[in-house]
Amino acid sequence: MTRTKLALLILASLALDTAAHPGGHKNHTIDPNDFVKVDGLRLKDSKGLHYLTGLNYWACMNPAAPASLGGNVTRLRTELDQMAAKGVNHLRIMASSEGAPTPQPFRMNPALLKSPGSYNEELFKSLDVCLAEMGKRGMRATMTLGNQWQWSGGFAQYVSWAQNDTAIPYPESWNMTAPPQRAIPGTGWGNYTVQGVDAHSYNEFIDYSNLIYSNAQAEQWYKDHIATVISRKNTVTGRLYKEDATIMTWQLANEPQAQKALGYEGPYNLYLKPNPADLLFPWVERISSYIRSLAPNQLISVGLEAKQGEYYFKRVNNFSTVDYATTHLWVQNWGVYSMKNSTNAGLKAAQDFAGAFLTNTSRWAAGVGKPVFLEEFGMARDNWQNQDSDYPYLSSATTTHKDAYFETVISTAVSLFEGNGSYIGTCPWAYGGSWRPETQHVNEFGMVWAGDPPHESPGWYDVYDTDEAMNIVGQQAERVKRWIEMNGGGY
Ligand SMILES: *[C@@H]1O[C@H](CO)[C@@H](O)[C@H](O)[C@H]1NC(C)=O
Ligand SMILES: *[C@@H]1O[C@H](CO)[C@@H](O)[C@H](O)[C@H]1NC(C)=O
Ligand SMILES: *[C@@H]1O[C@H](CO)[C@@H](O)[C@H](O)[C@H]1NC(C)=O
Ligand SMILES: *[C@@H]1O[C@H](CO)[C@@H](O)[C@H](O)[C@H]1NC(C)=O
Ligand SMILES: *[C@@H]1O[C@H](CO)[C@@H](O)[C@H](O)[C@H]1NC(C)=O
Ligand SMILES: *[C@@H]1O[C@H](CO)[C@@H](O)[C@H](O)[C@H]1NC(C)=O
Ligand SMILES: *[C@@H]1O[C@H](CO)[C@@H](O)[C@H](O)[C@H]1NC(C)=O
Ligand SMILES: *[C@@H]1O[C@H](CO)[C@@H](O)[C@H](O)[C@H]1NC(C)=O
Ligand SMILES: *[C@@H]1O[C@H](CO)[C@@H](O)[C@H](O)[C@H]1NC(C)=O
Repeated sequence: MTRTKLALLILASLALDTAAHPGGHKNHTIDPNDFVKVDGLRLKDSKGLHYLTGLNYWACMNPAAPASLGGNVTRLRTELDQMAAKGVNHLRIMASSEGAPTPQPFRMNPALLKSPGSYNEELFKSLDVCLAEMGKRGMRATMTLGNQWQWSGGFAQYVSWAQNDTAIPYPESWNMTAPPQRAIPGTGWGNYTVQGVDAHSYNEFIDYSNLIYSNAQAEQWYKDHIATVISRKNTVTGRLYKEDATIMTWQLANEPQAQKALGYEGPYNLYLKPNPADLLFPWVERISSYIRSLAPNQLISVGLEAKQGEYYFKRVNNFSTVDYATTHLWVQNWGVYSMKNSTNAGLKAAQDFAGAFLTNTSRWAAGVGKPVFLEEFGMARDNWQNQDSDYPYLSSATTTHKDAYFETVISTAVSLFEGNGSYIGTCPWAYGGSWRPETQHVNEFGMVWAGDPPHESPGWYDVYDTDEAMNIVGQQAERVKRWIEMNGGGY
């Protein structure tokens, strides 16, 4: 077939699509049997190549909940429609959150798992709603089953439960009720504080959380949760989770860290000295093979950032029960970029780092023969403009750096997909939709449900419905769609 004929066919089919769905809103319901599979360095579904135009929407079950649990289903549906309209076909969401016997700060509230074996069934039903609404719009899920960080309870909560509810050594985290406060109660701002929970370093917190790798009781409760979620029947669709292709991936945890780092050997104090005895490795092997035994039709990923460097990346992702690798790319958190630095040189440093990181990790992934998904990256707004404002993260700041950075990151990942690289998609952090810091109001559970999770300043990395970043995400979906069609789709 010639290029011209193919192009005409594509135009004709696009026209048909539009005619079938006047108003532009297209429903691409997922066939529950259409599981995504890995093929070499690619993903495929029944139609051929499958590229992930993703967004992080971690809170999904909470906005999907009834108002009595602090949710707002209207908001959920509106935001899912907004994302679907930009071609988003993948959301990374939490399929876990852990509560505590006493009120604990900095985390998703209410929690799904109140205490070992005891669930908030209403919130579980809201996870069902989230998945059902996603499936209607052609969006598949990464289901994150645990968390290294405090914002959902996570490893630290399992360890605390397993050690007679010992106090969690929290690091400095965002406190909505700390000074400075706005005149109207419940509208923020707040600051980072550790009042009432003592100040601990992130290293102390990580060491405590990492006891999950060796505490048999904590691991058993975590595995019990995994089994409960995987075997759940969705109360909206009637499908078992493990038999629903809307769930593409079970992810061990958000950003599991090395258990026993031996120092650094790479750039920017990131890449670790290899520690072959690190308990992270056997933990990944145990948990991923456990998931495989329960959910043989779905994919498994670990949730590692790759900031631990090549050795950790390859060891963790090389297990036969890990289907593809993941990367998280955080230039400000890793000290490569400052949101207060307005210079082009600051932006360029971030772009150069991102390009090298993506090229390197694409090669590392090919080294273990697996695809890789950039499932977190973000950049703040032009917040040097907010330096003399009430709040450093006001939404009124422009997004010139963020837009240029998103262009670089997404176009590099797409080029690595179109060329012989290992990238299979991107997933910015994180969709905040219509939420804004200026109009926020905490609900009765102390939550605002911004794109940023409860332990960090709301508005830092939010992607809003009206942001240019959403157009960049949308153009990615169009570019990849054209490329797949021009290259024979089915492959
Ligand atoms: C898409 O699905 C929703 C929910 O089922 C429905 O309300 C809407 O009418 C559908 N839209 C189109 C264009 O088919
Ligand atoms: C729920 O969300 C909708 C759409 O975003 C919004 O208009 C409405 O004010 C929200 N309701 C509440 C109670 O916050
Ligand atoms: C927890 O408490 C029980 C009984 O009170 C005790 O036997 C056990 O050693 C304690 N475990 C830890 C980790 O402190
Ligand atoms: C927020 O806390 C930091 C210390 O963590 C402090 O330096 C800063 O002054 C505080 N900001 C406000 C507005 O109180
Ligand atoms: C949050 O800030 C309030 C007001 O300053 C304070 O009373 C509370 O102890 C803080 N909580 C934590 C966990 O730091
Ligand atoms: C990956 O595992 C295979 C065996 O399954 C082994 O031959 C190979 O050396 C491993 N690669 C790395 C980088 O660990
Ligand atoms: C801004 O970033 C550039 C590039 O990293 C650096 O050379 C420059 O010193 C930074 N400027 C400030 C004010 O920090
Ligand atoms: C990428 O790999 C090169 C060659 O190993 C190394 O010099 C560079 O520091 C790496 N950069 C990043 C961001 O990974
Ligand atoms: C393909 O990959 C190899 C090794 O990773 C690289 O050297 C080469 O330049 C790539 N070719 C293209 C066309 O991207």
